[in-house]
Amino acid sequence: MSQIIIKNLSVKRGESFVLKNLNLTIEKGEFVVVVGKSGSGKTTLLHTLAGFLPFSGDIIIPHNLGVVFQEYSIFPWLTVEKNISLGLDKYHPKERKEIIEEHLALTELGHKRHSYSAELSGGQIQRVAIARSLAPDPEVLLMDEPYSALDVHTRDKMQEWLLDVWQKKQKTVIFVTHNISESIFLADRVLVLDEGNFVREFVVPFTRPRVDEMRFTMEFNLLNQNIKSFL
Ligand SMILES: Nc1ncnc2c1ncn2[C@@H]1O[C@H](COP(=O)(O)OP(=O)(O)O)[C@@H](O)[C@H]1O
Ligand SMILES: [Mg+2]
Repeated sequence: MSQIIIKNLSVKRGESFVLKNLNLTIEKGEFVVVVGKSGSGKTTLLHTLAGFLPFSGDIIIPHNLGVVFQEYSIFPWLTVEKNISLGLDKYHPKERKEIIEEHLALTELGHKRHSYSAELSGGQIQRVAIARSLAPDPEVLLMDEPYSALDVHTRDKMQEWLLDVWQKKQKTVIFVTHNISESIFLADRVLVLDEGNFVREFVVPFTRPRVDEMRFTMEFNLLNQNIKSFL
């Protein structure tokens, strides 16, 4: 059963339409990546799905969403543990503690639970940001270029980490990036956004779990070039 249905979605920013009659259906548990050049409307799409922007058309999406935005990251005045505990007020203290421990384990940062963001690397901060979004158990995770500030090596590691978490937690993910190789590594489907609409969809043919060596295969690089030609 499909979990997210977007029909004839149009969004205006300033005088012009940034999204124009966009249609998309996403199945439960799917990992969809939207790529597009800067200014193509990727952030606008995620902000609209998160309910931050007015729109015309129809959006059917679960209400409990998690969001990870590049610019928000984590609260610097709270420790790793406190950041993860945000959004868990609805749980009983005992259950809350269990959820915090589970998500602290996901970040692989148990030893840093009392640290602040100033004491963490970029990759560690984003792991905390993602764990924090997952802790209240959202059905859908919206991610806006969460890795664009990371160096290439860390980024590659974090992609593998995210896929591992995704397999464990079985969430529906919409991930936005301008990095094509990242999109192929992560996605079930890559959608190319241009001039306010999807101009192309690519079903990624690679099996899971995805492994680092995949990035160096001819198939991977041909798909990379193919997607690039639509950007
Ligand atoms: N707050 C805003 N007011 C007016 N125009 C905006 C605003 N935010 C973004 N835009 C415009 O909307 C278009 C799409 O922006 P955005 O969704 O941020 O693209 P992307 O995330 O793909 O880089 C751009 O032309 C941008 O200038
Ligand atoms: Mg953006």
